[in-house]
Amino acid sequence: MRKPLISGNWKMHHNHFEAIQTIQRLAYALSSSDYENVDVSVHAPFTDLRSLQTVIEADDIPISLGAQHSHWENKGAFTGEVSPEMLAKLNVSLVLVGHSERRHIFGETNADINKKVHAIIAKEMTPILCVGEMSEEREEGRTLEVVEKQLEEGLSQVKPSEVASIVVAYEPVWAIGTGKNATPEDAQEVCKAIREKIVSIWKGAGEDLRIQYGGSVKGVNAPDLMKQNDVDGLLVGGASLDPDEFSRIIKYRLLD
Ligand code: 13P
Repeated sequence: MRKPLISGNWKMHHNHFEAIQTIQRLAYALSSSDYENVDVSVHAPFTDLRSLQTVIEADDIPISLGAQHSHWENKGAFTGEVSPEMLAKLNVSLVLVGHSERRHIFGETNADINKKVHAIIAKEMTPILCVGEMSEEREEGRTLEVVEKQLEEGLSQVKPSEVASIVVAYEPVWAIGTGKNATPEDAQEVCKAIREKIVSIWKGAGEDLRIQYGGSVKGVNAPDLMKQNDVDGLLVGGASLDPDEFSRIIKYRLLD
């Protein structure tokens, strides 16, 4: 059985004071039975990570600390970048890689993403590899072709045992921040194809691999998305900024 992973991507929101308040309110809203059923992570801006680490460790909060981005080198002349080694030192355990905003606004390529995946695994953190098609690609019927290429190139030369323990997030670009979420059936179709592609290349890795859906997830649509066989979790943007709404999503079983 794959334990669901529900992750909040705060993007460029919440300064470190707001981050502390948000994690404390979220922890207050969640109970031990929620954590038994679901793994939870928050992916905060770099400037929040040290404060969040302190609160999570001092209050023993079972929420995993996540980053949104990392460079592939551990040190060097890379102005503005933060390294996997620096993130690992803050007890970050999960790092988003290849989010569509990194790909489309900042020009990250599958080759860059592949180097980051290797570097994050080397520091014993878990990459959440984000994949997804743009609306023109969906209209042209190229969704699976695009997603499969992102997987093949993004995970090139990663060992099957390592692929089994990473997370893939399927986020159709047209569904991000638009209020237009994929139907549960659309999400299932692509998440199933992702698992099949992974099994076909990295034999044996697909059954344990956790696949998240992301794109306009809210408390109202989380239960139906989570009912799909190949959807093992959710990557939540806007709705994760509000601890009440994010906790409703994490408690999706109770909303059904
Ligand atoms: P929204 O939930 O705001 O659509 O964002 C999704 C996302 O990009 C999460 O990484």
